[in-house]
Amino acid sequence: MIATAERAAAKSSRSQSSSNPEQVTFSSIIAALSFALDLTEGAQPGHALRTCLIGIRIGTEMGLSQDQLSDLYYALLLKDAGCSSNATRLYQIVGGDEIRAKAFTKTNDWTRFEWKQIQFLLRHVHAQDKIANRFKAIGDMIKKSSQNAEILFRLRCNQGAQVVRDLGLGQGTADAVYNLDEHWNGLGYPDRLSGDAIPLLARIVSISQTLEVFHQQYGPAAALDCIQRRSGRWFDPLVVRAAVSLMRRNALFVDIDSPVLKHYVASLEPSLRSLPADPQTIDSICVAFAGVVDAKSHSTYMHSTEVARIAVELGAYLGLNDSELVTLRRAGLLHDIGKLSVPNSILDKPGKLDASEWACVKMHPHYTYEILSRIPTFGEIANISASHHEKLDGSGYYRGLMADDLCYMSRILTVADMFEALSANRPYRGPMSKADVLNILRKDVPHAIDPTVFAALESIIEINNLKVA
Ligand SMILES: [Fe+2]
Ligand SMILES: [Fe+2]
Repeated sequence: MIATAERAAAKSSRSQSSSNPEQVTFSSIIAALSFALDLTEGAQPGHALRTCLIGIRIGTEMGLSQDQLSDLYYALLLKDAGCSSNATRLYQIVGGDEIRAKAFTKTNDWTRFEWKQIQFLLRHVHAQDKIANRFKAIGDMIKKSSQNAEILFRLRCNQGAQVVRDLGLGQGTADAVYNLDEHWNGLGYPDRLSGDAIPLLARIVSISQTLEVFHQQYGPAAALDCIQRRSGRWFDPLVVRAAVSLMRRNALFVDIDSPVLKHYVASLEPSLRSLPADPQTIDSICVAFAGVVDAKSHSTYMHSTEVARIAVELGAYLGLNDSELVTLRRAGLLHDIGKLSVPNSILDKPGKLDASEWACVKMHPHYTYEILSRIPTFGEIANISASHHEKLDGSGYYRGLMADDLCYMSRILTVADMFEALSANRPYRGPMSKADVLNILRKDVPHAIDPTVFAALESIIEINNLKVA
C-alpha cells in the first residue's frame, strides 16, 4: 500500500516538474546536494536519497506525525552534513585515505575488534611508513580508539547539527543529525546516550543508513540479518520491528533503484510542511554548503567564501548586472563542491602529488558539475562552477575547453579562484604576497587568463586594497 501511494505521488511530482522545468524547491536542492555528502562518506551515489526513502517508510510505519516526518525527512537527507569536519583528523589518525576508512566502517562493526578490522588496519593504516612506525600507529589507534571515536563523532555531529540550523530547519532535525551515532545500549557517540534518551528520529536515521548500505552492497537478506543482530545493541528494537515488518511485506526496498528515485523522494516530503526556495533561502543553502566544503581541510578554510566574494567584486567592477552577480556568487560558493570527493591524504599532503593523486584532484570539477547539474535551474551555475580550472588556450582541466567555450563569468571565477588559492596558506608552502600572486598570474595573460579580468583584478587591488584571506 505504501509503495502504491508513493508511486502515485511520484508520478504527480514528475508531471509537475516536467510541466514546469524551472520549478525549484528547497527539498530538490537539498536532495541534489546530498550527492556531495555521499562522496565524502565513501558512499554509493544516491545513498542519502535511498536512506531517505527507507527512513520515511519506517517513520510512516511507526505512525509518526506529519511534523515528525518533516523533521525526519530533512535529517535523512542531511545526516552527513558534518562529514567534512573530521576528515583532516581522521586522515591524521589512519595516515591514509580517510574516505576509504569511512566506507569501511559503514559495513563493518567497528565496535568489535575482529579479524576483518585487524586486516583493514594492517593493510591501510600509515601504509607508506616503515614497518616499525606502522605497528606503533596501529597500537596507538587501538589504545586510543574510544578517545579518537569521541573526538571524530563530536566534530561530525556538531557540524552536522550546525548546518541544519544554518539552513533554518527545526530543532527536531538538528537533534536527529546530532544524535544519529548514538547506540541503543549507550556505547555510541558523542554523548553515550542510551535507550529512549536518544531522540526517536535519530534512532530511525541510524538504522535507515545501515539498511541502505547493506542492501546496496549485499542485498536484502544481509540487511535484515544485520539489523536483527544489532537489535537492542545498536538499534532500538521497536524501530527494528517496524523495519522487519516492512521487509516481510516487501515494502521497504521496493523501487529503491528506480531511475525516478528523486521524484519518489520529492513526493515523500510532507506537503503541509513543504519549504519554499526563495532567493534568500537558495543563497543560505549555497553558503551552508560552501561551509561544508571549506571545513574539509585546514588549507581550504574559507576558500569558497573568499572566492565568491572576490568574484563578485570583480564582476561588479566589470559591470555585470544584479542577476549575473547572484549567479556568480552562487557559482563561487559551490565551485569546489566536487572536492568533497578528494581524500585529505591528497588535499593535506605536504609534498608533491604523484600522477594518480593529481588525476584524482583533476576530477573535482567534474563532480562539481555532476552535483550542481542535478539542481533544477542551476544549469548555468553548474557550467560556470565546473569551468573554474579551464584556461583560454585549452590547457586547463577537466574538459580542456577553449576560449570560445568559456563565458565571461567562468573567466572571472577562474581568476578569483587562482588569486585566492595562491594567496592562501597551503600544506606545501606559506601564503604569498599580492605582488607575487599577480606576477604569477601575469605570466598566463593573455593566452590562458582573460586580460580584461586580470586588469580588473589589478585595479581592484590598487583601488580597494582587496583583502587577502
Ligand atoms: Fe577547484
Ligand atoms: Fe577553488
